[in-house]
Amino acid sequence: MLVAERDLEYLDGVHAPLGPVLEEMLKTGRSEGVPIVNPAAGRLLRVLVTALAPKRVLEIGTAIGFSTLWMASALPAGGRIDTIDPDRTRTDRARRYWLRAGVTDRVRVINEPALRVLPRLAPGIEFAFIDALKPEYAAYLDALLPKMAPGGMITVDNVLWSGRIAAGEHDENTDALRAFNETFLHHEQLEATVLPVGDGFGIGVVRPHG
Ligand SMILES: C[S@@+](CC[C@H](N)C(=O)[O-])C[C@H]1O[C@@H](n2cnc3c(N)ncnc32)[C@H](O)[C@@H]1O
Repeated sequence: MLVAERDLEYLDGVHAPLGPVLEEMLKTGRSEGVPIVNPAAGRLLRVLVTALAPKRVLEIGTAIGFSTLWMASALPAGGRIDTIDPDRTRTDRARRYWLRAGVTDRVRVINEPALRVLPRLAPGIEFAFIDALKPEYAAYLDALLPKMAPGGMITVDNVLWSGRIAAGEHDENTDALRAFNETFLHHEQLEATVLPVGDGFGIGVVRPHG
C-alpha cells in the first residue's frame, strides 16, 4: 500500500520550512521543469550528511544546485562537495543560489561528463549522491566504488522512476534503472536498500575491504 497523499502533505507541513533560498530553488525547478530532488529526499540527504559528517562528498548531477545545498548545509567544518554537471548554464545559476545561502566556499563544480571525471578523482570519498543520466547509473557505480572510503555511503535518486519500473514499463531509462536496482541491491561490496522516499531513494554502505 502506498503512503497516502495526505500523509505526505502532513509531513511537508510538519517539517521546518525550507527557508527562502531552497524555497525559491524548488519553485524555479518546478516552474521551469528542471528535475530536482523532492524535498523529502533533500531532507534525507541532510540528515544522512549530518549523521556521517563526511569531509569529502561527491555529487553526480548538480542542475541548479538544490540537492547540493541540502548536503552543503549539513557538512562538518572543513567538509567539501565536488559536484559534476556538464551544463554550465545550470551550474552558474546554482553558484548564485549557493552564494546567497553562504555555502559557495564548500562546493567545487566540475563541468564535464561524470564518466570522464570519476576515473581521475582521488580515493577517499565518504558520501556520494548519484542523480544524472539514468542509463549511466550502473557505470557511475562501477567508477565510484574504487574511489569510496570503506564504510562510505552511496545514495541514488529516482530508483522507483515514478512507478514505471514496478508497472513493468519498458524504455531506455526505465530498463536501465531496473537493471541498476538489481545490481545495487545485490552488490557484494554494498549493504544496500531502497526507501520509498521522493522518487525512490537508494542507500548503499560500502563494506570495508577484505
Ligand atoms: C536530475 S538533474 C540533477 C538534479 C540535482 N541533483 C538536484 O536534485 O538538485 C540531472 C543533471 O545531470 C546533468 N548531466 C547530464 N549529463 C551528465 C553527465 N554525463 N555527467 C554528470 N551530469 C550530467 C544534467 O545536466 C542535469 O542537470
